[in-house]
Amino acid sequence: MTREHRQPEVNIGLVGHVDHGKTTLVQALSGEWTDQHSEEMKRGISIRLGYADATFRRCPDMDAPECYTVDETCPDGSDSEVLRTVSFVDAPGHETLMATMLSGASMMDGAVLVVGANEPVPQAQTAEHLMALDIIGIENIVIAQNKVDLVDNEIARENYQQIKQFVEGTVAEDAPVVPISAQRGVNMDLLMQAIEEQIPTPDRSPDVDPRMQIARSFDINRPGTTFDELMGGVLGGSLVRGRLHSDDEIELRPGREFEEEGQSEYRSITTTVRSLQAGNDLVDEVGPGGLLGVGTGLDPALTKGDALAGQVAGPPGTLPPTWNSFTIEVELLERLVDGDEIEPINTGEPLMLTVGTATTVGAVTSARENECEVNLKRPVCADPGAKIAINRRVGTRWRLIGVGTLVG
Ligand code: GTP
Repeated sequence: MTREHRQPEVNIGLVGHVDHGKTTLVQALSGEWTDQHSEEMKRGISIRLGYADATFRRCPDMDAPECYTVDETCPDGSDSEVLRTVSFVDAPGHETLMATMLSGASMMDGAVLVVGANEPVPQAQTAEHLMALDIIGIENIVIAQNKVDLVDNEIARENYQQIKQFVEGTVAEDAPVVPISAQRGVNMDLLMQAIEEQIPTPDRSPDVDPRMQIARSFDINRPGTTFDELMGGVLGGSLVRGRLHSDDEIELRPGREFEEEGQSEYRSITTTVRSLQAGNDLVDEVGPGGLLGVGTGLDPALTKGDALAGQVAGPPGTLPPTWNSFTIEVELLERLVDGDEIEPINTGEPLMLTVGTATTVGAVTSARENECEVNLKRPVCADPGAKIAINRRVGTRWRLIGVGTLVG
């Protein structure tokens, strides 16, 4: 049977505490496609992007929720209809788990909060991830109460009550809670129905200049590749608006660091789009939504090991400014996730800031009520008005303390 080629149109974050079943759930929903990479893809892009796409389908002759499926064939042997393809965001590998989650969150149109039914609610990351969704303003949320196969009815009900109590007063207050077993594939149809209803595909102005947030970057060449076989650097991320085509010229900001007479400066990089991969297919054009891989003419040494993660790409001359320092309007949370009160920001203190997919550390040069100026270690490219997640070092790790708006 031929597979329909569909570009993913919406990014859904899988968030929640370690081991509660995020990866297993993505596999349950997207396993269908994982072995369908072409030879070209096996060489690199999709496998290394750290995300999975799933195509949601519907059996036309069945009622909800049973009609929802990821199978191409319905129980009666007829073909299922494609509803849409979604990208699950699982942004891997930065300095802390929270930084990773926050930079991934900037690409999420909605989120599935996975909560294990076999542990008391909330576990630490359940709470911190929900707080992050709240702060970043991701309102379209579905809660998957996973591992219900491990508990009896009574414990499942108690756990459900704990979840409802825990989300009271948060952005997830009205989110549906769907009991599932990702491992056994139980209630996947109900979960898909909830995602279809709660996380619509946003309207993203496809007819303006394209802009891509870069979440990862790679060198996909095997060691020992000869010069004439060398492939250009690959960028992974999401188009927030516009359409990108192969052969388009793109600029990347902040770009690359240059040292001159002891001074370091970032200068933007310009390159050409050589290939585009979306939804496991090589395509000539992509629209907004979903995660994509962009093959470029860049020296792979520049893209190796996520070196360009956090940058912004678009047609030359259309990108927002690059900031080495900026003023932020600050809104602090009242308490840390573990209940400790949050003190005001002090002049001189280091902060970890997430702006779009970029994570950077900065020193506060001036802190006033509700505003602070920060000198950034590594510059970021962002529009005034951009949202910034603010983290402070508490003990040995960075903790989310509030949200900011880039003033200028
Ligand atoms: P991190 O990526 O480390 O945050 O973990 P995760 O949330 O992705 O969890 P993962 O999917 O790796 O699952 C953790 C363990 O729980 C694995 O051993 C899974 O097989 C198991 N597991 C996941 N879902 C279920 C389920 O529905 N029932 C049971 N019994 N086990 C499950």
